[in-house]
Amino acid sequence: MSKPANSKAANQMWGGRFAEGPDAIMTAINASIGFDKRLYAQDIAGSRAHAAMLSATGILNNKDAEAIGEGLLKILSEIESGNFPFRIEYEDIHMNVEARLKEMIGEPAGRLHTARSRNDQIAVDFRLWVRDQCDAAITGLEALMRAFVAQAEAGADWVMPGFTHLQTAQPVTWGHHMMAYVEMLGRDRSRFIDARIRMNECPLGAGALAGTSFPIDRHMTAKALGFDRPTANSLDSVSDRDFALEFLSTCSICTMHLSRFAEELVIWSSAQFRFIQLSDKWTTGSSIMPQKKNPDAAELLRAKLGRVLGATVALFTIMKGLALTYSKDMQEDKEQVFDAADTLMLALAAMTGMVSDMTANRKILASAAASGFSTATDLADWLVRALNLPFRDAHHVTGTLVAMAEKKGCDLSNLTLAEMQSVHAAIKIEVFDVLGVENSIRSRMSYGGTAPDQVRTQVARWKAALR
Ligand code: ARG
Repeated sequence: MSKPANSKAANQMWGGRFAEGPDAIMTAINASIGFDKRLYAQDIAGSRAHAAMLSATGILNNKDAEAIGEGLLKILSEIESGNFPFRIEYEDIHMNVEARLKEMIGEPAGRLHTARSRNDQIAVDFRLWVRDQCDAAITGLEALMRAFVAQAEAGADWVMPGFTHLQTAQPVTWGHHMMAYVEMLGRDRSRFIDARIRMNECPLGAGALAGTSFPIDRHMTAKALGFDRPTANSLDSVSDRDFALEFLSTCSICTMHLSRFAEELVIWSSAQFRFIQLSDKWTTGSSIMPQKKNPDAAELLRAKLGRVLGATVALFTIMKGLALTYSKDMQEDKEQVFDAADTLMLALAAMTGMVSDMTANRKILASAAASGFSTATDLADWLVRALNLPFRDAHHVTGTLVAMAEKKGCDLSNLTLAEMQSVHAAIKIEVFDVLGVENSIRSRMSYGGTAPDQVRTQVARWKAALR
């Protein structure tokens, strides 16, 4: 792209009342073409729909409309083949396209902007772009959810410790843990679907802010661009960016979910845990320590929320306190949304790869599940069920037995019946049945519980939903 220079001549698009051109620094701060060229396809689609409507309503004659439509298609292929001259003096994608159209077809190019403003033009371009990104996020999420479901199906009955406070709490199944993420990602997916529905109204035709005196057909352009309907208030149409904020907020929640699993991958793949093995494809070595296999991708995924949430906070801050309607502040929206969207799509793809390629160390998971007195709750529940103790008393008796086992340096199941009876005389031999991890998980049959049958029910439900 050409470097800005102090230009003597006033801007050709809007410079009628200007005696001299902008300072080079003004051009540099004002121009958005460096990043909004990414909206070229949306901009051209919007212009083509607008021109077709101008012609259908008789605002533009057919010959001019045809020349405009064809010229725009040529510009599209110029851009796609890398032959388009992006010029900073034309500020943004809208004026770059129009200036090039004028070079191609001459005077009719100047008629394209009838009954339109760059304010409704950018509003439509940006909505179209964000709408596509919602679709991409939904697709990416579904791939990741399928990867989690596949892990869950394979390991519906593999036991592992469940944690609270990162302390061993109760045994759970691998499948259950995987399916927890499917629930989170499923809600993210529905948030993108909802956001897409809400944003799918067409602002084109709002003009600069007040609508237009030309007899345009906003329903026609809305339909041509795949929107459900035109927006209903022209002031709101050019100044609304909450579709972008909703997208960013949803990206943030989703990236937060990814960061939680990323942290688990980091912990689980450590030499201290060895719950899983990450594949070589998603790890790196150390240049000095030959034994190392670092979970870099997981660490980066843990960090990405910093970036996505940063973009979210940035756009909220940009929009805060902006009086209606359009203000140039709003041009700062795009880089934030572009970066957050790129980050999310990459993160979803990387996480899908890692989840698909990781292997659970079943033996280590099982022995970890049995340690840390993980079946203490099962013991307390047994005391309630078999001996009719109030739960509070059962809790106390169990706590005494845990302390005894800890002192002995063994698990609850290694205490003798006599030792148990020294704490509560009525304890019977059947108590040992509930101290086993397998029995523990199988007993958690409540809906949404960790029992393998419950996990399989949820796996089946999601497999059908994701088909
Ligand atoms: N590049 C501008 C933006 O991104 C387009 C709208 C310009 N409108 C205006 N009145 N200067 O916001």
